[in-house]
Amino acid sequence: MRPISSLVKDHIRNLKPCVHGGEVLDAAYKSGVRRENLLDFSSSVNPLGTSVKALAAAEAAFNQVAAYPDSTSSELREVIAKHYSVRKENIVVGNGSTELIYLFTEIFLSKEDKVVMAAPTFGEYEGAVRKTGANICFIKSGEDQKLDVNTFIEAMKDAKMVFICNPNNPTSLLTPIEDLTRILDTALEHSVLVFLDEDFLEFVENEQSFSMISHIEKYPNLFILRSFTKLFGLTGLRVGYGIACQEIIDVLMCTKIPWNVNCLAQAAAVIALKDEEHLQRTRQLICEEKAYLQKGLSNIEGFRVFAPDANFFFIDIRKTGYTAAELTQKLLQQGIMIRDCSSFKGLDAYYIRIAVRLHQENVRLLQELGKVL
Ligand SMILES: Cc1ncc(COP(=O)(O)O)c(C=O)c1O
Repeated sequence: MRPISSLVKDHIRNLKPCVHGGEVLDAAYKSGVRRENLLDFSSSVNPLGTSVKALAAAEAAFNQVAAYPDSTSSELREVIAKHYSVRKENIVVGNGSTELIYLFTEIFLSKEDKVVMAAPTFGEYEGAVRKTGANICFIKSGEDQKLDVNTFIEAMKDAKMVFICNPNNPTSLLTPIEDLTRILDTALEHSVLVFLDEDFLEFVENEQSFSMISHIEKYPNLFILRSFTKLFGLTGLRVGYGIACQEIIDVLMCTKIPWNVNCLAQAAAVIALKDEEHLQRTRQLICEEKAYLQKGLSNIEGFRVFAPDANFFFIDIRKTGYTAAELTQKLLQQGIMIRDCSSFKGLDAYYIRIAVRLHQENVRLLQELGKVL
């Protein structure tokens, strides 16, 4: 028998898993701090958790687990379509939005294709593209961490696909609508597919004015990603969705794995989207706590805090004298998890990401940072 590694496709053999925040069990294991004593600021999800109504819907769906779930997530697609005033045929649902990143690249990319994305940005785009063997052109963001739009536009003219994360993970920065429009118009002219990740847009005030969902008919090359993981807090149930013109959605619906979203997740997501009260409470909390943390974090000597558009802070800590890894370790010993961003392409060892949490938790974070620094 030949070694298994020699049987793996060349471009896949050396792939490594992407690093993520939110690895609470692993952090507990490595630090010796009990899991229930850890406060997780490394994963940017709803600090209020899941809507109680959505949880009740998941519970009620337990009596359906003996049957296959609806493979086309029909009811959920209808509810999402109504929510955004589009058609059900414009929606595909995935096992988390991550499934759709991988499905989209698998469908459209071949080995010789070029893909353009910013650096830094969410790491799974790179992982998904590498799996297809296509080539990636990274456009490094400037010192202000904003997307270098002119260089991006030049690079994308002979590309097959571009990725844009809006607001971007890990920088928490929005791309201005004029820049997005320029990118989309160039993409249309040069037949480039645009994968626009709006997973964190729901945390942005006046979300509609930044979203491209109402433009899917104008841009048949546009695929918009959304998730129930972040604002809706269905993180462990795994539900995300894509919105695009019917031609794109038809291909995804035909090529996704069957029964990709379980019955509990579908039932919970249908109700979560309608639970306006929970969403309003969340938005209010994030707004207040962002202001509180902005003040507290900016007062810390050596912190350069980038003004956040989403529900998390991106901070350059080089002037503290600590690396991100050192500060992460020190805080972990105090039961606080933050995201060391050194695994993001385009960043050095001095950036951290911190999610907005409940008030008392944010108070504790500032106290612990005060002690450590
Ligand atoms: C920008 C962005 N997009 C997509 C995802 C994937 O989210 P999920 O698969 O949980 O929907 C994440 C997760 O961290 C993310 O940060």
